[in-house]
Amino acid sequence: MTSMAATLTTVRIPTFRNLRRSHAHQRPVNKHFNSLLTFAKMEGSEITEQVDEDSRAKKKIFVAGATGSTGKRIVEQLLAKGFAVKAGVRDVEKARTTLSSPNPSLQIVKADVTEGSDKLAQVIGDDSEAVICATGFRPGWDLLAPWKVDNFGTVNLVEACRKRNVNRFILISSILVNGAAMGQLLNPAYIFLNVFGLTLVAKLQAENYIRKSGINYTIIRPGGLRNDPPTGNVVMEPEDTLYAGSISRDQVAEVAVEALAYPEASYKVVEIVSRPDAPKRSYHDLFGSIRQRSLD
Ligand SMILES: NC(=O)c1ccc[n+]([C@@H]2O[C@H](COP(=O)([O-])OP(=O)(O)OC[C@H]3O[C@@H](n4cnc5c(N)ncnc54)[C@H](OP(=O)(O)O)[C@@H]3O)[C@@H](O)[C@H]2O)c1
Repeated sequence: MTSMAATLTTVRIPTFRNLRRSHAHQRPVNKHFNSLLTFAKMEGSEITEQVDEDSRAKKKIFVAGATGSTGKRIVEQLLAKGFAVKAGVRDVEKARTTLSSPNPSLQIVKADVTEGSDKLAQVIGDDSEAVICATGFRPGWDLLAPWKVDNFGTVNLVEACRKRNVNRFILISSILVNGAAMGQLLNPAYIFLNVFGLTLVAKLQAENYIRKSGINYTIIRPGGLRNDPPTGNVVMEPEDTLYAGSISRDQVAEVAVEALAYPEASYKVVEIVSRPDAPKRSYHDLFGSIRQRSLD
């Protein structure tokens, strides 16, 4: 994983709200901060907000599922990189103990994604630049939970973004969501995960909704998640490529946070695992190597 000292010197924060698809495609956006200023000026009316060093700490990211094993890592990494974070959680009291010690850049808000887009739009507010969704149903007696959380919950978040004009959405999904189309119907992981309320199917539905929404998305599909620190480098592949492998949650969080910084991550679905023998590649290179594909 990139050391924090190194990443702090190269933090890149585009104005997500205004980075429209056409420009993400066509403009050679230099990712260094000073060049971003130039880009903001170049785009004239499209970019209403000037970015400078001082406003860097004020970029606020809404994280749904912030108390989750991946969500809390995303929160920690965002804070470490100087973002402000609005942490969406179901249980605010629990979140106070799960998340970082009191930090003026961290705001904890109640956000149950099953409660509808209006409520979510309210908590996302008008100060969030982007939304990162790291929710996942918690196993229990409710067999519809995956459908409610991983499909409709995510759809609610996308709708809330539309209501608030938030035009950047990053979703933590999963490899094998499209396993049926990949010929992986008999893959034990595909079977196992779908036994619990068609989890992968639910996630795929949500992915498709995001892709058709017009919002600037990055859908991150990790392999099996591990809590231990990274043991190898990130391998990034296009959608419907990987059907096995695992990755540290630290690296998944890093990919989600880095996706905010790189225009090359826009409108893409990326599948990630880590491998000890994989070469270390920059995120510019990793995201840049994935082609955009539209839904048929
Ligand atoms: N486990 C794997 O190997 C694996 C592999 C690939 C992809 N994934 C996917 O990666 C994502 C992150 O996984 P993880 O293991 O880090 O997650 P996790 O620890 O299970 O955390 C899930 C989060 O979702 C939240 N959540 C559940 N229902 C919610 C609701 N109705 N409204 C708002 N938040 C809700 C939980 O809140 P509470 O803390 O309040 O319960 C928790 O913060 C999930 O989508 C998962 O399916 C997992």
